[in-house]
Amino acid sequence: MPVTSTIDPAFSVGLVNPWLFGTFVEHLGRCVYTGIYEPTHPSADEDGFRGDVAALVRELGATVVRYPGGNFVSNYRWEDGVGPRASRPRVFDLAWRSIETNQVGTDDFLAWCTRVGLEPMLAVNLGNRGLAEAVDYLEYVNGAPGTRYADQRVGNGHVKPWGVRLWCLGNEMDGPWQIGHKTPVEYARLAQEVAHAYKTFDPDLQLVACGSSNPAMPTFGDWERIVLEHCFDDVDLISAHVYYEPIGGDDVSFLAVSAHMDRYIRDVVSTADHVAAKRHSQKRINISFDEWNVWFAARHAEKEVEQTAEVTEAPALIQDVYTALDAVVVGSLLITLLRHTDRVGVACQAQLVNAIAPILTVPGGAAWRQTIFHPFALTAKYARGTVLMLGGDHGQVDTPAHGAVEQVWAVATHDAQSGELAIFAANRSLADPASWTVRLGAFGELRLVEHLVVGDEDHSAVNSEDFPDRVVPKAGVSALAGDQLSVTLPPASWHCIRLASR
Ligand code: AHR
Repeated sequence: MPVTSTIDPAFSVGLVNPWLFGTFVEHLGRCVYTGIYEPTHPSADEDGFRGDVAALVRELGATVVRYPGGNFVSNYRWEDGVGPRASRPRVFDLAWRSIETNQVGTDDFLAWCTRVGLEPMLAVNLGNRGLAEAVDYLEYVNGAPGTRYADQRVGNGHVKPWGVRLWCLGNEMDGPWQIGHKTPVEYARLAQEVAHAYKTFDPDLQLVACGSSNPAMPTFGDWERIVLEHCFDDVDLISAHVYYEPIGGDDVSFLAVSAHMDRYIRDVVSTADHVAAKRHSQKRINISFDEWNVWFAARHAEKEVEQTAEVTEAPALIQDVYTALDAVVVGSLLITLLRHTDRVGVACQAQLVNAIAPILTVPGGAAWRQTIFHPFALTAKYARGTVLMLGGDHGQVDTPAHGAVEQVWAVATHDAQSGELAIFAANRSLADPASWTVRLGAFGELRLVEHLVVGDEDHSAVNSEDFPDRVVPKAGVSALAGDQLSVTLPPASWHCIRLASR
């Protein structure tokens, strides 16, 4: 179907927020142990972290990383993970019914973040712990030498405060599965107390209050409102989480879930702005979209099997293998996040290695890029400058779950300094190609630098240890004639098109 759009520097949403390209490391399954950390691996550095994984993390281009959970944090004692490794306790992790060895803890993880160039975002346990432990932890991490917990850190070899700026006040506290699950008022009271104490310690911290675990929660909307009515003055962001999978084999709706994420963001923004309006406040609470991805949760209904199975260290939990179609969905979700760069303050794809992740590893063996690695890496690398919406007609796909959605889902970024224009687009039709004309007259003379496509005629194609490059970005079909770009978008495909001033 032919569709025509216009890109113009006047259609600006705001600057590209680099924190949109965050990731997440939880003590879950093999994300930490035999994921980022494996002291016996041939590529391990002197602190036991895998060099091959670190190289892929750098290539992925993630900017922020949330740690240590997730559900894990709601039963976590930070004290167990610091100090000499030999004296750290083995404990029972209630979230994932696993043995946690504590061989990786806060200092180890923050040192790794420094080495790989990631900004850490730490979550504190507001499940089975409270205000006092949260404040002790902040002092341990960020306190200047000379007080009890800061000196404990110094004694553990880390004189300089870590200076962590981003803090999550608990995780998914609305979820009945959460250790220490709370009502909105119970959570809001505790989060407000912790936020007030944290801002007293350092007013420049960026604090995230828990929003809903997903928009299908029965308390969605009210939860955000009640939490923000209590915490509005003390927090900066409210969290959003969502995972997508084809429900009942409905790939048509699955390919269009970026429309669902778009509406979810608008709903949370509206709720936050409603609280601001009632307070006659100009302050804006933005979203920390600190868990999002494709997750075949239904397939893991065997999760119950997993969870009642033998309790071991680093069990192989939720190791989803992603298809070419999943990569297109992930690319389209990144487009949605970019389109909301003005109101999404942080976003973290969940997770980084092995557990619902763009990187898979074999213990003692190889590490490779899943299909979903590619749209993330390309977007993180080339989205620069100002985010621009597109005007025009973008076609239509009728979906059972989301109604009619635009077929071509796109966004552009323009770096006025370098003259680079990047267009990110997904064809959200499973069956129909799109012939797309993009009018670029407002940018003067341009040249086409590169057009890369992620997708495959075989929507179920995956990368594996034996075929790690089965699905990789390939050259796309496009032509620039004067100020008009013509692009062919095959069904279920994601595109990164780069142009530059002549
Ligand atoms: O990312 C996996 C889990 O999903 C997280 O631990 C939890 O916060 C969410 O439910």
